[in-house]
This record gives sequence, C-alpha cells and structure tokens, in this order.
Amino acid sequence: MKTAALLLALVSAVVATPLSLFDNAQSPLGDFPTTYPGFDLDLSAPRLVQLDGQDEPVTMTELEKIQAKVRGIRFFDVTETPDLGSLAHLRAVQKPSYPAPNNTQAVRSIIDTLEIQNLRDGLDKFTSFRTRYYRSETGKESQRWLLSKITEITEKFASDSLKDEISIQEFPHSWAQSSVIVRINGTSPTDDGVVVIGAHLDSTNSWPFLPAPGADDDGSGSMSILEAYRGLVAAGFRPERAVEFHWYSAEEGGLLGSQAVARAYEGRNVNVVAMSQYDMTAWVKRGTREQVGIITDFVDPESVFQSMFAVVLGFSPSSTHRCSLTEYNKKLVELYLNIPWVETKCGYACSDHASWRKGGYPSVFTIEATFENSNHGNIHSANDRYDISDEFSFEHMLEFSKLAVSFAIELGGWKKAD
Ligand code: BES
Ligand code: ZN
Repeated sequence: MKTAALLLALVSAVVATPLSLFDNAQSPLGDFPTTYPGFDLDLSAPRLVQLDGQDEPVTMTELEKIQAKVRGIRFFDVTETPDLGSLAHLRAVQKPSYPAPNNTQAVRSIIDTLEIQNLRDGLDKFTSFRTRYYRSETGKESQRWLLSKITEITEKFASDSLKDEISIQEFPHSWAQSSVIVRINGTSPTDDGVVVIGAHLDSTNSWPFLPAPGADDDGSGSMSILEAYRGLVAAGFRPERAVEFHWYSAEEGGLLGSQAVARAYEGRNVNVVAMSQYDMTAWVKRGTREQVGIITDFVDPESVFQSMFAVVLGFSPSSTHRCSLTEYNKKLVELYLNIPWVETKCGYACSDHASWRKGGYPSVFTIEATFENSNHGNIHSANDRYDISDEFSFEHMLEFSKLAVSFAIELGGWKKAD
C-alpha cells in the first residue's frame, strides 16, 4: 500500500497539471506513458464524478479520480449512470416488509453442507491473476474464469429440472470485464420480487497498473457467496421468488458495474425486494474478537415519513411492525451464525450496496469486522493475499456463506418437498 502511494505521488508529480490545461488537445501527461500493455485505461479520459457531500457532479480525469481515491476523497463515478435513482420515488410508497425468519430447518440443513476447502480452492485460483482490474486483460480473464466456475458448479450440483430454472449471464459494460448475474427463477406465479446477493469481482492496486491479488477485497466476498450458491443448488433450492447472485465489475472504479446493473433494473422496473452486499469477509484482526460488521450507513432506505411515524407513535424505528432490512439481517446473524454482529459505518458509499440504495432499493452490507478493524493495511496493494497473515480466516469467510444461504432461503422462500 505504501509503495503504491509513493509511486502514485511520483506519477502525480510528473503529471501535475493545472485542471484548466486538461482541455488541451495535447496529452496533459506529457511524455509519461498513458497506456500500459494489457491495460485499456486512458488516464486523461474525462469522468463525471459525484463527490461525497456535494450536490452536483464534477468533471475530472481518470488520473485525478485515482488520486482522489488514494487521498481518501470519496465518490461515485456517475459518467454512465447520471440518472440512477430518478425513478426511486415511485417505489418509495410500496416498501417491502420482512416477516420474521422461520425456515430454520431448511437453512440449517444447507449450512451444514458448506465447505471451507471450496473457499480455499476458489480463492487460490481467483487471486492467481496478476490483477482483476476492470480495464485489464487479466481482469477479463479472471471474470471469464468465474463464469466458467459458476457454470461448472451448476452442471455438477444442480438437478436437470433445477438447471432449467437457472440462467448464468454476463452483463456487458463499456469496458471489457463484465458483471456476472446468476438467476434462480421463483416458483410463485404472482410474486415478481427478486432477492439479490452481491459481491465485486474486480480488484485494484492504488496505482492500477501494479499487481492486485485482491484476496480480501473482494475475492473473499466473491467466494463466500459462490459457496452459498453451490450449497443452495446442491440441495435443490427452488425459491418462491427469484434469487439472484451478482458479481459486479468495476466497483473499484467508483461502483461502476453495480450502478449500471441497478440502473438497468430500475429502467425495467424490476422489483428488487432485498439486496445484500458481501465485500471483505475474511479478516479477523489480531487481538479482536470475531464478529460480523453490520454497516448502517448508505443502506436500506427508510423513508423520512416512516421514521417520523415511528417517532410520533413513540416507537423506536426498529420496534415498528416493519423491521428494516438491516434489522432483519441482524436477526439472521443471531439465528444462524456462530459469532455476533456489531454495528459499524464506512462513513461514505464504500461498496455496491450504495448503488442499489441510490436506485431506491433496500440494501444491506455485512463486512468482516467494524470498519476500523477491517483489513486497511493490505487492501489495494500486492499484499492483499490470503497467505499474508493468519488474520486471514477461511473459517470467518464461511460465516458469510452461511449468512448468504439464510438470506436466500428466508427472503426467497422455500417450501421444501421432503
Ligand atoms: N472493500 C472496499 C471498501 C472498504 C475499505 C471497506 C476498507 C472496509 C474497509 C471497496 O472495495 C473500496 O475500495 N471502496 C472504495 C470506494 C469506491 C466507491 C471506489 C474506497 O473505500 O475507497
Ligand atoms: Zn476496494
């Protein structure tokens, strides 16, 4: 992380150019190479960026965006999705409700079949690509591998009748690496809801051209939900409402992939009843007790009206009849995990749940620890490896697979035949 920051400072010094000069026809980067072999990244390309806490998006170059991220300036890149959330108000009136979890037997029976070795094998391969950067060739290769792994799992573990209900698709973007969307159709003829379980498949180094194994960020979440998917299809999971697994491209570029997917769903008026993001699920910091972090900012929009209603009636918002998706997620942790939850905040739109929330959909985010105790020292660097420390825990990752299984079954619904 430090080397990359230093390199970035150096590059910044070389290319330091006043903003106004960026309009020149000549490259503002002078003789400094603006392309690298195997990368399709134009550092001088203009981007429309929504900075944290500002009303209007501003234009900056790709390089300035990369620099901003390193300096801890937070943003959404809205270049391709400036109108995400413009229809959100239409859905605000018909918010979904979440009855208490009650499918304990089915959930527990599947949780028992989840295997740590699958997490190890999957992550070993997924981190073997030099980088999964969304504008790199190896980033595209890693995404293709994930797609083939999902196909292999489906072929091997799903029955023929279940296979007919599953679709595995690449969601293309304007850059080469696609997002990946797997859907298990719902059996109900009347329920058009969709439950989404997500992670991001891309990785980055602070300076994007450097190696980025991305073991924790977000190889861990990607593999946690993949093992949940395997467990579900192996058990013949037939949800009443559709359940989808999403692996987003370009989260590291400013939530680009998830915004594009959420925008497409918003445009088709897809009824996403719940979205759960898994980003960094492996790190248990030395000296801390193992917990799952429940992020409470940029999640599950509870309308101002609803909160006021609760206050007027003298209830705390969480004790009203409609519990928020975040409260629901906590209940799942209490019921099905071996470790407790702890509330925490990123303080900014730190992962793909924020794209869904921006689209007006209920979303939650569960992370490896409190934000403070997460793996800040290694992510976005060549050290984001699973063998860097025994603080990287596959057992911890499996807890998140369990949570994803329970989320799919309890919110998707399942009347098991036997
Ligand atoms: N996984 C991180 C977010 C994160 C970082 C969570 C540290 C907990 C601890 C995510 O992949 C990321 O890097 N997000 C960006 C913001 C995004 C909008 C580009 C970040 O945190 O800078
Ligand atoms: Zn990251």
